[in-house]
Amino acid sequence: MRIAVPAETAADEERVAATPETVKKLAALGAEVVVQSGAGVNSGILDGDYEKAGARIAADAAATVEGADVVLAVGRPSPSTLAGVHPGAAVLAIMDPYGQQEALRGLAGAGVRAFAMELMPRITRAQVMDVLSSQANLAGYRAVLEAAAEYGRAIPMMMTAAGTVPAAKIFIMGVGVAGLQAIATARRLGGVITATDVRPATKEQVESLGAKFLAVEDDEFRQAQTAGGYAKEMSKEYQAKQAALTASHIAKQDIVVTTALIPGRPAPVLITAEMVESMRPGSVIVDLAVERGGNCALSKPGEVVTTANHVKIIGFLNIASRLAATASQLYAKNLYAFLETLIDKETKALKIDPEEELVKATLLTRDGAVVHPAFAQG
Ligand code: NAI
Repeated sequence: MRIAVPAETAADEERVAATPETVKKLAALGAEVVVQSGAGVNSGILDGDYEKAGARIAADAAATVEGADVVLAVGRPSPSTLAGVHPGAAVLAIMDPYGQQEALRGLAGAGVRAFAMELMPRITRAQVMDVLSSQANLAGYRAVLEAAAEYGRAIPMMMTAAGTVPAAKIFIMGVGVAGLQAIATARRLGGVITATDVRPATKEQVESLGAKFLAVEDDEFRQAQTAGGYAKEMSKEYQAKQAALTASHIAKQDIVVTTALIPGRPAPVLITAEMVESMRPGSVIVDLAVERGGNCALSKPGEVVTTANHVKIIGFLNIASRLAATASQLYAKNLYAFLETLIDKETKALKIDPEEELVKATLLTRDGAVVHPAFAQG
């Protein structure tokens, strides 16, 4: 069995899908691992490190994927990389399938078995394969550091001979995996933290991290969590109540980090232009939802916007990639854990059961067709 790790092609992607640690583990399963030259360099991994772990280095993408049974990637492989992958190969990546019918047809057309790692069910056994959690956790951490770097003041309270510096007030909107890590990070830096979410389960989590919870706690709030643990899209009425509650709060904040997402839907707009206008000069907003439309009306993908009233709005894309070495370490481990379940220990070959729960949840394409029920129709 041959496993290929091509270099990522997206402009802002610094992560890599395998590390020397996972290469060693894959080799121990009897696989031959081929890594494209330079694939790990942005994550601090040199070709020689992969070679020491037992991989072979190939010069370009085509030579890397040639004859591969499995392709491991961070983002969905480009059409030119896919062109060299032989039909039937398994391709594991963050496929970004929502609203990407043409790309899905491309994967189907290549005849590959494409697995979308972000669709991994959030069950105990699959926690080790949960790429959304591993990457969102780092994004939440990094978001606070980005905010701190742009903020022209100190975060912790400091009592010095030259005067007292007040602690920064930091508000976290959306308390999933990223939001929880943002709270923990902001606490470590010494900020005064408040947080909000629409799922009632988050209240206790926020308080257990030493932050204050702020939310409209009505009947809709009490039912806002789906069986899968995600948020539902809230009614217009709820959104209006939520905006009224948070508007006066945001005006007093120094830093706001937003992480609110609803699976398969555009991100809810939680910070309007008026709310941004109400903030003091020098305040910072980090919008982690910018890739999905943004939680702040004024954020721009990939940019740091400075408003007329001198509020900075950070809209970096792919924030986990700004911490590439750690993000790659965890992502590669997620991939390995899933791939291991697809390999027959006796024959040391791929054995993919389309009826198996994790396969069913993540398999997008097979035998030339889009087979995932959520995406098969278009
Ligand atoms: P996510 O990235 O989909 O959303 C982030 C947060 O935004 C969520 O907490 C959501 O409730 C919140 N949100 C949505 N609309 C909002 C609004 N209008 N205002 C304020 N907040 C809003 O969520 P993530 O991080 O993927 O986590 C979802 C859930 O899954 C959590 O309960 C988490 O603990 C759980 N989880 C379970 C795992 C497991 O059992 N294996 C692993 C990872 C997460």
